[in-house]
Amino acid sequence: MRGRFSVDDVEAEARSRLDPCHYDFFAGAAGSEWTRRANESAWSRRPLRPRILGGGGRDLTVRVLGRSLSMPVLVSPTAFHRLAHPEGEVATARAVAAAGTLLIVSMAATRTLEDIAAAAREGAGDGDPALWFQLYPQPDEDFTTALVRRAEAAGCAALVATVDSPVFGFRERDHHNGFHDLPAGLRCENLVEPGPPERVRSIAMDPGLDWARIDRLIASTRLPVVLKGVLHPEDARLAVDHGAAGVIVSNHGGRQLDGAVASADALPDVVAAVAGRIPVLIDGGVRRGADVVRALALGAVAVGVGRPVLWGLAVDGAAGVREVLELLRDDVDRTLALCGGGRVADLDAGVLFPSAPAPADGRVAPVSEKVS
Ligand SMILES: Cc1cc2nc3c(=O)[nH]c(=O)nc-3n(C[C@H](O)[C@H](O)[C@H](O)COP(=O)(O)O)c2cc1C
Repeated sequence: MRGRFSVDDVEAEARSRLDPCHYDFFAGAAGSEWTRRANESAWSRRPLRPRILGGGGRDLTVRVLGRSLSMPVLVSPTAFHRLAHPEGEVATARAVAAAGTLLIVSMAATRTLEDIAAAAREGAGDGDPALWFQLYPQPDEDFTTALVRRAEAAGCAALVATVDSPVFGFRERDHHNGFHDLPAGLRCENLVEPGPPERVRSIAMDPGLDWARIDRLIASTRLPVVLKGVLHPEDARLAVDHGAAGVIVSNHGGRQLDGAVASADALPDVVAAVAGRIPVLIDGGVRRGADVVRALALGAVAVGVGRPVLWGLAVDGAAGVREVLELLRDDVDRTLALCGGGRVADLDAGVLFPSAPAPADGRVAPVSEKVS
């Protein structure tokens, strides 16, 4: 077998192993998939401008909501891990904790939150793994509250409310494939209501979700609440005003609004609007160490990856997830070294060319427009 040296290599291997319908479910996005493609290309429009002869060491650790992570790469919530590997989210959790970084467990997980948390503890060597729980706030607020209580009891350190999904994105690959539900034997384990007969709730994408519901969610828990799916600086400002503990700049990997701005292009305005009051995280199209360095230079505190982890899981379960995370870690470390070293947390726009954020239309600003 040929070696795997990048996330792209792992994806190629995963693709050859997965049922094509399941590969398409993971890889695909909404509509024409313009936003999915834009996420990746937006990073590469930001050339790096390295410093030389710094002579110092390197430090990849970052702090997110008071918690130290071994690197600035964390795992965004993705559904249905048992489609990739029989162990599902349990394998993911073990690998992510062993890598010393954060897993955001999806509400649509195919293992119970309690089993996932136990696996994370095992991966962390019975230490204290970094685990957050993602939820789509449901119209049935009692059900949402019950899930929040479970996340608290399982040891999750934060909640992530995904707010970019008032309706379900239209994913054409899934429609072509007739893929609309989990195959027999798999289910969203955290949506099972005890019977008899047991019933599995479906996740409501709720156009009625509003700031008042977010206020009630925040008031209902001792956990910090992070809003995921923020692209507009005005919403970032509102998130701060409403007491969100952080925001994740994200377009759901292009799976919701096709045509939405690439995450990398949305980041600078959100960072400016938040003005350091809460942490800004980002996901979407991060495949290389250089993308991670670019995101931190633009003001993100850490970067999430979605699909890359699913590819690793499909290739080799927990070992495959670990492989992907270590490929990214090595690439971040190498990129940081080649940019002049130092603490990844200290990166700023000086490492980008031009040092002003690139305009969203991809135009490279002429020298006269540069700001230092
Ligand atoms: C297969 C798949 C399932 C996803 N499921 C969820 C989910 O349950 N909740 C959520 O907030 N985001 C979900 N997302 C979006 C991811 O959290 C993340 O925003 C996105 O994957 C980042 O882009 P990347 O895949 O290019 O890294 C999903 C993404 C994929 C690819």
